[in-house]
Amino acid sequence: MQIVDSAIFKTFVASNQRSKLHAERARQVIPTGMSRALLRHPPFPAYSASGAGVHTTDLDGNVRLDFHGNYAALIHGHAHPQISAAVTDQLSRGSAYSSPASQELRLAEHLCSRVKSVQRVLFNNSGTEAVLVALRAARALTGRSRIGKFEGGYHGFSDYVMVGGHATHGAEAMRGLLPIAADTHGLPPSVKTDAVLMRYNDIDSVRTAIERYGTEMAAIIVEPMLGSGGVIPAKAEFLTALREETFRAGIVLICDEVITLRQAYGGLQSSYALEPDLTTFAKIIGGGFPIGAVGGSASAMSVFDEQITDRHVANLGTFSANPVSAVAGITALELLDEAAIMRLARLGDRARQGLIDVVRRHSLRAQITGLGSMFQIHWTPDPVTDARAADSADPNLKLLTFLGLANRGIQTSMRGMCCLSTPMRESDVETLVAAFEDTVHELSHEGLDIRMSRP
Ligand SMILES: Cc1ncc(COP(=O)(O)O)c(C=O)c1O
Repeated sequence: MQIVDSAIFKTFVASNQRSKLHAERARQVIPTGMSRALLRHPPFPAYSASGAGVHTTDLDGNVRLDFHGNYAALIHGHAHPQISAAVTDQLSRGSAYSSPASQELRLAEHLCSRVKSVQRVLFNNSGTEAVLVALRAARALTGRSRIGKFEGGYHGFSDYVMVGGHATHGAEAMRGLLPIAADTHGLPPSVKTDAVLMRYNDIDSVRTAIERYGTEMAAIIVEPMLGSGGVIPAKAEFLTALREETFRAGIVLICDEVITLRQAYGGLQSSYALEPDLTTFAKIIGGGFPIGAVGGSASAMSVFDEQITDRHVANLGTFSANPVSAVAGITALELLDEAAIMRLARLGDRARQGLIDVVRRHSLRAQITGLGSMFQIHWTPDPVTDARAADSADPNLKLLTFLGLANRGIQTSMRGMCCLSTPMRESDVETLVAAFEDTVHELSHEGLDIRMSRP
Protein backbone atom coordinates (compact mmCIF):
# COMPACT_ATOMS: atom_id res chain seq x y z
CA MET A 1 0.00 0.00 0.00
CA GLN A 2 1.21 3.50 -0.82
CA ILE A 3 1.36 5.61 2.31
CA VAL A 4 -0.80 8.33 0.71
CA ASP A 5 -3.60 5.77 0.28
CA SER A 6 -3.70 4.99 3.98
CA ALA A 7 -6.82 6.07 5.87
CA ILE A 8 -4.58 7.52 8.60
CA PHE A 9 -2.83 9.77 6.08
CA LYS A 10 -6.12 10.82 4.48
CA THR A 11 -7.70 11.63 7.85
CA PHE A 12 -4.73 13.84 8.73
CA VAL A 13 -5.02 15.76 5.46
CA ALA A 14 -8.80 16.14 5.78
CA SER A 15 -8.66 17.49 9.33
CA ASN A 16 -5.79 19.92 8.67
CA GLN A 17 -6.99 21.87 5.66
CA ARG A 18 -6.00 25.28 7.04
CA SER A 19 -2.49 24.00 7.73
CA LYS A 20 -2.38 22.66 4.17
CA LEU A 21 -3.19 26.12 2.79
CA HIS A 22 -0.74 27.71 5.22
CA ALA A 23 2.01 25.34 4.02
CA GLU A 24 1.33 26.23 0.38
CA ARG A 25 1.49 29.96 1.17
CA ALA A 26 4.58 29.57 3.38
CA ARG A 27 6.45 27.68 0.66
CA GLN A 28 6.31 30.86 -1.45
CA VAL A 29 8.59 32.69 1.00
CA ILE A 30 10.20 30.05 3.26
CA PRO A 31 11.95 27.08 1.62
CA THR A 32 9.86 23.95 2.46
CA GLY A 33 7.35 26.20 4.24
CA MET A 34 9.08 26.22 7.62
CA SER A 35 12.46 27.24 9.01
CA ARG A 36 13.02 24.30 11.36
CA ALA A 37 14.07 21.25 9.35
CA LEU A 38 13.36 18.80 12.18
CA LEU A 39 9.67 19.73 12.25
CA ARG A 40 9.09 18.74 8.62
CA HIS A 41 7.10 15.64 7.77
CA PRO A 42 4.77 14.43 5.02
CA PRO A 43 2.29 15.59 3.94
CA PHE A 44 2.76 18.92 5.83
CA PRO A 45 2.85 19.79 9.53
CA ALA A 46 -0.13 20.97 11.56
CA TYR A 47 0.98 24.56 12.17
CA SER A 48 0.65 25.68 15.80
CA ALA A 49 -1.53 28.63 16.75
CA SER A 50 -1.28 28.53 20.55
CA GLY A 51 -0.41 26.47 23.60
CA ALA A 52 -1.74 26.35 27.16
CA GLY A 53 -0.65 23.92 29.86
CA VAL A 54 -0.42 20.43 28.38
CA HIS A 55 -2.26 21.32 25.17
CA THR A 56 -1.49 22.91 21.83
CA THR A 57 -4.03 24.17 19.29
CA ASP A 58 -3.29 24.22 15.58
CA LEU A 59 -4.62 26.44 12.78
CA ASP A 60 -7.59 24.12 12.21
CA GLY A 61 -8.54 24.25 15.89
CA ASN A 62 -7.32 20.69 16.57
CA VAL A 63 -6.29 20.44 20.22
CA ARG A 64 -3.51 17.99 21.07
CA LEU A 65 -1.94 16.73 24.26
CA ASP A 66 1.67 17.80 23.83
CA PHE A 67 4.15 14.95 24.41
CA HIS A 68 6.67 16.71 22.17
CA GLY A 69 7.30 19.78 24.34
CA ASN A 70 9.38 21.53 21.71
CA TYR A 71 11.91 18.69 21.70
CA ALA A 72 12.08 18.33 25.49
CA ALA A 73 12.45 22.07 26.18
CA LEU A 74 9.00 22.81 27.65
CA ILE A 75 9.25 20.87 30.90
CA HIS A 76 6.49 22.95 32.50
CA GLY A 77 4.19 22.87 29.46
CA HIS A 78 2.91 25.98 27.69
CA ALA A 79 2.44 29.42 29.23
CA HIS A 80 3.16 28.29 32.79
CA PRO A 81 1.66 31.02 35.04
CA GLN A 82 4.79 31.60 37.17
CA ILE A 83 7.12 31.70 34.17
CA SER A 84 4.74 34.00 32.27
CA ALA A 85 4.53 36.32 35.29
CA ALA A 86 8.33 36.48 35.66
CA VAL A 87 8.77 37.20 31.95
CA THR A 88 5.99 39.81 31.86
CA ASP A 89 7.56 41.56 34.83
CA GLN A 90 10.97 41.46 33.13
CA LEU A 91 9.58 42.77 29.83
CA SER A 92 8.38 45.90 31.57
CA ARG A 93 12.04 46.48 32.51
CA GLY A 94 13.45 45.81 29.03
CA SER A 95 14.39 42.75 27.03
CA ALA A 96 18.11 43.36 26.46
CA TYR A 97 20.67 45.87 27.71
CA SER A 98 23.86 47.59 26.64
CA SER A 99 25.81 46.53 29.71
CA PRO A 100 25.81 43.02 31.25
CA ALA A 101 22.37 41.97 32.46
CA SER A 102 22.40 41.48 36.23
CA GLN A 103 19.74 38.77 35.83
CA GLU A 104 22.17 36.10 34.58
CA LEU A 105 23.85 35.79 37.98
CA ARG A 106 21.00 33.94 39.74
CA LEU A 107 20.76 31.44 36.91
CA ALA A 108 24.55 30.94 36.97
CA GLU A 109 24.57 30.44 40.75
CA HIS A 110 21.69 28.00 40.49
CA LEU A 111 23.39 25.86 37.82
CA CYS A 112 26.68 25.85 39.73
CA SER A 113 24.92 24.70 42.90
CA ARG A 114 22.91 22.09 40.99
CA VAL A 115 25.54 20.37 38.85
CA LYS A 116 28.54 19.08 40.78
CA SER A 117 31.09 19.32 37.96
CA VAL A 118 30.15 22.94 37.23
CA GLN A 119 31.90 25.74 39.13
CA ARG A 120 31.72 28.36 36.40
CA VAL A 121 29.17 28.83 33.62
CA LEU A 122 28.49 31.26 30.80
CA PHE A 123 25.47 31.75 28.60
CA ASN A 124 24.68 32.10 24.94
CA ASN A 125 21.56 31.57 22.81
CA SER A 126 21.18 27.88 22.01
CA GLY A 127 22.53 24.41 22.57
CA THR A 128 24.22 24.71 19.18
CA GLU A 129 26.18 27.74 20.37
CA ALA A 130 27.00 26.11 23.70
CA VAL A 131 28.48 23.08 21.93
CA LEU A 132 30.35 25.23 19.42
CA VAL A 133 31.97 27.22 22.23
CA ALA A 134 32.71 24.11 24.34
CA LEU A 135 34.53 22.51 21.39
CA ARG A 136 36.51 25.70 20.86
CA ALA A 137 37.44 25.70 24.56
CA ALA A 138 38.60 22.09 24.30
CA ARG A 139 40.83 22.95 21.36
CA ALA A 140 42.30 25.92 23.21
CA LEU A 141 42.88 23.84 26.35
CA THR A 142 44.61 20.97 24.53
CA GLY A 143 46.15 22.59 21.45
CA ARG A 144 44.66 19.66 19.45
CA SER A 145 41.94 19.71 16.80
CA ARG A 146 40.19 16.35 16.38
CA ILE A 147 36.70 15.97 17.85
CA GLY A 148 35.28 12.60 18.88
CA LYS A 149 31.55 11.96 18.83
CA PHE A 150 29.16 9.04 18.81
CA GLU A 151 27.10 7.60 15.99
CA GLY A 152 23.54 8.95 16.28
CA GLY A 153 24.55 11.72 18.68
CA TYR A 154 22.97 15.11 17.99
CA HIS A 155 24.71 18.20 19.33
CA GLY A 156 23.09 21.00 17.35
CA PHE A 157 23.95 22.19 13.88
CA SER A 158 27.40 23.76 14.05
CA ASP A 159 29.89 22.40 11.50
CA TYR A 160 32.02 20.09 13.64
CA VAL A 161 29.14 18.07 15.05
CA MET A 162 27.12 17.74 11.83
CA VAL A 163 28.65 14.35 11.06
CA GLY A 164 27.66 10.83 12.03
CA GLY A 165 24.16 11.76 13.09
CA HIS A 166 22.83 8.62 11.45
CA ALA A 167 23.79 4.98 11.67
CA THR A 168 26.63 3.77 9.50
CA HIS A 169 26.33 0.40 7.84
CA GLY A 170 28.53 -2.03 5.97
CA ALA A 171 31.70 -3.93 6.75
CA GLU A 172 33.74 -0.90 7.78
CA ALA A 173 31.13 0.06 10.36
CA MET A 174 31.73 -3.19 12.20
CA ARG A 175 35.37 -2.37 13.04
CA GLY A 176 35.58 -0.01 16.04
CA LEU A 177 35.96 3.24 14.06
CA LEU A 178 33.24 4.42 11.76
CA PRO A 179 33.36 6.14 8.37
CA ILE A 180 32.41 9.80 8.62
CA ALA A 181 29.22 10.75 6.83
CA ALA A 182 28.21 14.41 6.73
CA ASP A 183 24.70 15.21 7.98
CA THR A 184 24.41 18.24 5.68
CA HIS A 185 25.97 19.64 2.57
CA GLY A 186 28.03 22.80 2.84
CA LEU A 187 30.59 21.66 5.43
CA PRO A 188 34.29 22.46 5.00
CA PRO A 189 36.42 19.35 4.29
CA SER A 190 38.26 19.78 7.61
CA VAL A 191 35.08 18.78 9.45
CA LYS A 192 35.35 15.25 8.12
CA THR A 193 39.10 14.96 8.56
CA ASP A 194 38.91 16.26 12.14
CA ALA A 195 36.04 14.00 13.21
CA VAL A 196 36.43 10.66 14.94
CA LEU A 197 33.20 8.69 15.02
CA MET A 198 32.59 5.99 17.61
CA ARG A 199 29.77 3.61 18.53
CA TYR A 200 27.58 4.55 21.48
CA ASN A 201 27.66 2.23 24.47
CA ASP A 202 30.75 0.53 23.01
CA ILE A 203 33.94 1.25 24.97
CA ASP A 204 36.07 -0.84 22.58
CA SER A 205 35.20 1.65 19.87
CA VAL A 206 36.43 4.48 22.15
CA ARG A 207 39.66 2.61 22.94
CA THR A 208 40.33 2.02 19.24
CA ALA A 209 39.77 5.73 18.54
CA ILE A 210 42.08 6.86 21.31
CA GLU A 211 44.75 4.35 20.35
CA ARG A 212 44.76 5.67 16.81
CA TYR A 213 44.08 9.38 17.27
CA GLY A 214 44.33 10.08 21.02
CA THR A 215 47.23 12.53 20.82
CA GLU A 216 45.34 14.58 18.21
CA MET A 217 41.96 14.58 19.96
CA ALA A 218 40.85 17.76 21.72
CA ALA A 219 37.48 16.48 22.95
CA ILE A 220 34.97 13.71 23.04
CA ILE A 221 31.38 14.89 23.30
CA VAL A 222 28.77 12.52 24.68
CA GLU A 223 25.11 12.59 25.67
CA PRO A 224 24.50 10.57 28.84
CA MET A 225 21.37 9.36 27.07
CA LEU A 226 21.14 9.50 23.27
CA GLY A 227 18.26 11.94 22.91
CA SER A 228 17.47 12.63 19.27
CA GLY A 229 19.26 9.37 18.44
CA GLY A 230 16.47 7.34 20.05
CA VAL A 231 16.11 8.11 23.81
CA ILE A 232 18.68 5.42 24.59
CA PRO A 233 20.33 5.59 28.04
CA ALA A 234 24.08 5.07 28.34
CA LYS A 235 25.32 1.94 30.10
CA ALA A 236 26.95 2.95 33.38
CA GLU A 237 30.14 0.99 32.67
CA PHE A 238 30.43 2.74 29.29
CA LEU A 239 30.43 6.23 30.81
CA THR A 240 32.78 5.21 33.64
CA ALA A 241 35.30 3.77 31.18
CA LEU A 242 34.89 6.77 28.85
CA ARG A 243 35.82 9.11 31.72
CA GLU A 244 38.87 7.00 32.61
CA GLU A 245 40.10 6.74 29.02
CA THR A 246 39.66 10.46 28.22
CA PHE A 247 41.34 11.46 31.48
CA ARG A 248 44.31 9.20 30.76
CA ALA A 249 44.65 10.57 27.20
CA GLY A 250 44.29 14.24 28.19
CA ILE A 251 41.12 14.58 26.09
CA VAL A 252 38.46 17.04 27.28
CA LEU A 253 35.25 15.15 28.05
CA ILE A 254 32.19 17.24 27.20
CA CYS A 255 28.91 15.98 28.59
CA ASP A 256 26.04 17.31 26.49
CA GLU A 257 23.13 17.73 28.92
CA VAL A 258 21.06 19.91 26.58
CA ILE A 259 18.24 17.35 26.75
CA THR A 260 19.14 15.33 29.83
CA LEU A 261 19.39 17.96 32.58
CA ARG A 262 15.66 17.31 33.10
CA GLN A 263 16.35 13.68 34.10
CA ALA A 264 18.00 14.28 37.50
CA TYR A 265 18.38 17.30 39.77
CA GLY A 266 22.14 17.45 39.14
CA GLY A 267 21.80 16.49 35.48
CA LEU A 268 21.91 12.92 34.23
CA GLN A 269 25.68 12.95 34.88
CA SER A 270 24.87 12.88 38.61
CA SER A 271 23.01 9.57 38.23
CA TYR A 272 26.17 8.07 36.72
CA ALA A 273 28.57 9.87 39.12
CA LEU A 274 30.18 11.23 35.94
CA GLU A 275 32.42 14.29 36.30
CA PRO A 276 33.07 15.69 32.83
CA ASP A 277 35.45 18.58 32.16
CA LEU A 278 32.78 20.64 30.43
CA THR A 279 29.00 20.41 30.26
CA THR A 280 26.65 21.98 27.74
CA PHE A 281 23.08 23.03 28.59
CA ALA A 282 20.09 24.58 26.80
CA LYS A 283 16.34 23.85 26.47
CA ILE A 284 14.84 23.72 30.01
CA ILE A 285 17.33 26.23 31.45
CA GLY A 286 15.61 28.94 29.36
CA GLY A 287 12.10 28.22 30.69
CA GLY A 288 10.76 28.22 27.11
CA PHE A 289 13.03 30.99 25.78
CA PRO A 290 16.23 30.73 23.71
CA ILE A 291 19.34 29.95 25.70
CA GLY A 292 22.52 27.89 25.81
CA ALA A 293 25.23 27.51 28.43
CA VAL A 294 28.62 25.95 28.86
CA GLY A 295 29.95 25.13 32.30
CA GLY A 296 32.79 23.27 33.96
CA SER A 297 35.47 23.33 36.60
CA ALA A 298 37.11 26.65 37.40
CA SER A 299 40.30 25.49 35.72
CA ALA A 300 38.62 24.29 32.50
CA MET A 301 36.52 27.46 32.33
CA SER A 302 39.58 29.68 32.88
CA VAL A 303 40.04 29.53 29.13
CA PHE A 304 37.24 32.11 28.85
CA ASP A 305 39.12 34.61 31.06
CA GLU A 306 41.86 36.56 29.32
CA GLN A 307 43.15 37.73 32.70
CA ILE A 308 44.06 34.12 33.52
CA THR A 309 45.10 32.64 30.19
CA ASP A 310 46.85 33.64 27.00
CA ARG A 311 44.70 31.02 25.15
CA HIS A 312 41.51 32.99 25.56
CA VAL A 313 38.31 31.69 23.92
CA ALA A 314 35.53 34.07 22.89
CA ASN A 315 31.87 33.62 23.87
CA LEU A 316 29.94 36.42 22.19
CA GLY A 317 26.38 37.13 21.00
CA THR A 318 24.19 40.24 21.02
CA PHE A 319 21.45 38.42 22.93
CA SER A 320 23.66 36.09 24.99
CA ALA A 321 22.62 36.08 28.67
CA ASN A 322 19.57 38.20 27.89
CA PRO A 323 17.46 38.97 30.96
CA VAL A 324 14.20 37.49 29.61
CA SER A 325 15.66 34.02 29.09
CA ALA A 326 17.50 34.34 32.40
CA VAL A 327 14.38 35.08 34.52
CA ALA A 328 12.33 32.46 32.65
CA GLY A 329 15.13 29.96 33.16
CA ILE A 330 15.63 30.51 36.87
CA THR A 331 11.87 30.31 37.47
CA ALA A 332 11.67 27.05 35.50
CA LEU A 333 14.62 25.48 37.29
CA GLU A 334 13.38 26.46 40.75
CA LEU A 335 10.05 24.82 39.91
CA LEU A 336 11.88 21.68 38.79
CA ASP A 337 12.99 20.47 42.21
CA GLU A 338 13.83 16.88 43.22
CA ALA A 339 10.18 16.11 43.98
CA ALA A 340 9.01 17.34 40.57
CA ILE A 341 11.66 15.25 38.80
CA MET A 342 10.73 12.13 40.80
CA ARG A 343 7.05 12.62 40.06
CA LEU A 344 7.81 12.93 36.34
CA ALA A 345 9.98 9.80 36.47
CA ARG A 346 7.12 7.83 38.07
CA LEU A 347 4.78 9.10 35.36
CA GLY A 348 7.42 8.09 32.79
CA ASP A 349 7.58 4.56 34.25
CA ARG A 350 3.82 4.33 33.98
CA ALA A 351 3.85 5.48 30.35
CA ARG A 352 6.65 3.08 29.40
CA GLN A 353 4.90 0.17 31.11
CA GLY A 354 1.59 1.03 29.42
CA LEU A 355 3.22 1.16 25.99
CA ILE A 356 5.20 -2.04 26.61
CA ASP A 357 1.96 -3.79 27.60
CA VAL A 358 0.41 -2.75 24.27
CA VAL A 359 3.50 -4.01 22.40
CA ARG A 360 3.28 -7.37 24.22
CA ARG A 361 -0.49 -7.73 23.96
CA HIS A 362 -0.35 -7.37 20.18
CA SER A 363 3.09 -9.04 19.66
CA LEU A 364 4.23 -5.89 17.89
CA ARG A 365 7.64 -5.70 16.30
CA ALA A 366 8.27 -2.60 18.34
CA GLN A 367 10.46 -1.49 21.24
CA ILE A 368 9.99 1.15 23.90
CA THR A 369 13.13 2.90 25.16
CA GLY A 370 13.66 5.69 27.64
CA LEU A 371 14.35 6.92 31.11
CA GLY A 372 12.73 9.34 33.54
CA SER A 373 10.44 11.78 31.77
CA MET A 374 11.31 10.66 28.22
CA PHE A 375 10.59 7.63 26.07
CA GLN A 376 10.38 6.56 22.45
CA ILE A 377 8.42 4.10 20.35
CA HIS A 378 10.65 2.26 17.84
CA TRP A 379 9.18 0.09 15.09
CA THR A 380 11.93 -2.50 15.12
CA PRO A 381 11.98 -6.09 16.44
CA ASP A 382 15.48 -5.83 17.93
CA PRO A 383 16.52 -4.35 21.29
CA VAL A 384 17.60 -0.72 20.86
CA THR A 385 20.90 0.12 22.56
CA ASP A 386 22.51 2.30 19.91
CA ALA A 387 21.74 4.45 16.91
CA ARG A 388 22.07 1.56 14.51
CA ALA A 389 19.16 -0.29 16.04
CA ALA A 390 17.12 2.93 16.27
CA ASP A 391 17.78 3.75 12.61
CA SER A 392 16.53 0.35 11.50
CA ALA A 393 12.96 1.31 12.51
CA ASP A 394 10.34 1.03 9.76
CA PRO A 395 9.92 4.58 8.35
CA ASN A 396 6.34 4.06 7.14
CA LEU A 397 5.14 2.71 10.48
CA LYS A 398 6.94 5.59 12.19
CA LEU A 399 5.16 8.19 10.08
CA LEU A 400 1.74 6.51 10.24
CA THR A 401 1.97 6.10 14.02
CA PHE A 402 2.88 9.77 14.37
CA LEU A 403 -0.04 10.83 12.12
CA GLY A 404 -2.40 8.31 13.77
CA LEU A 405 -1.60 9.74 17.19
CA ALA A 406 -1.98 13.29 15.85
CA ASN A 407 -5.43 12.34 14.49
CA ARG A 408 -6.30 11.19 18.03
CA GLY A 409 -5.20 14.43 19.67
CA ILE A 410 -1.66 13.42 20.67
CA GLN A 411 1.45 15.38 19.65
CA THR A 412 4.71 13.41 19.64
CA SER A 413 7.87 13.92 17.63
CA MET A 414 7.93 12.44 14.15
CA ARG A 415 10.52 9.91 15.29
CA GLY A 416 8.32 8.71 18.15
CA MET A 417 10.10 10.60 20.92
CA CYS A 418 7.82 11.59 23.81
CA CYS A 419 8.50 13.98 26.71
CA LEU A 420 6.43 14.58 29.83
CA SER A 421 5.78 17.96 31.39
CA THR A 422 5.02 18.83 35.01
CA PRO A 423 1.36 19.82 34.45
CA MET A 424 0.64 16.29 33.13
CA ARG A 425 -1.38 13.81 35.18
CA GLU A 426 -1.77 10.05 35.10
CA SER A 427 -4.92 10.44 33.01
CA ASP A 428 -2.84 12.14 30.29
CA VAL A 429 -0.46 9.20 30.18
CA GLU A 430 -3.41 6.80 30.01
CA THR A 431 -4.82 8.84 27.11
CA LEU A 432 -1.51 8.43 25.26
CA VAL A 433 -1.40 4.67 25.84
CA ALA A 434 -5.03 4.25 24.72
CA ALA A 435 -4.37 6.37 21.60
CA PHE A 436 -1.35 4.20 20.77
CA GLU A 437 -3.39 1.01 21.09
CA ASP A 438 -6.15 2.50 18.98
CA THR A 439 -3.58 3.49 16.33
CA VAL A 440 -2.19 -0.05 16.40
CA HIS A 441 -5.70 -1.40 15.67
CA GLU A 442 -5.97 1.00 12.72
CA LEU A 443 -2.54 0.01 11.38
CA SER A 444 -3.56 -3.63 11.62
CA HIS A 445 -6.88 -2.92 9.95
CA GLU A 446 -5.00 -1.29 7.08
CA GLY A 447 -3.07 -4.51 6.58
CA LEU A 448 0.32 -3.21 7.68
CA ASP A 449 2.91 -5.69 8.85
CA ILE A 450 3.18 -4.74 12.52
CA ARG A 451 3.58 -8.06 14.31
CA MET A 452 6.61 -10.16 15.17
CA SER A 453 6.95 -12.99 12.69
CA ARG A 454 6.42 -16.34 14.39
CA PRO A 455 9.49 -18.60 14.66
C1 LIG B 1 21.88 16.87 23.00
C2 LIG B 1 21.67 18.13 22.23
N1 LIG B 1 22.68 19.01 22.10
C3 LIG B 1 22.53 20.17 21.45
C4 LIG B 1 21.33 20.50 20.86
C5 LIG B 1 21.16 21.80 20.13
O1 LIG B 1 20.38 22.65 20.89
P1 LIG B 1 19.61 23.87 20.19
O2 LIG B 1 18.49 23.26 19.41
O3 LIG B 1 19.15 24.73 21.34
O4 LIG B 1 20.59 24.57 19.32
C6 LIG B 1 20.25 19.61 20.95
C7 LIG B 1 18.95 19.93 20.34
O5 LIG B 1 18.04 19.14 20.27
C8 LIG B 1 20.42 18.39 21.65
O6 LIG B 1 19.43 17.50 21.75
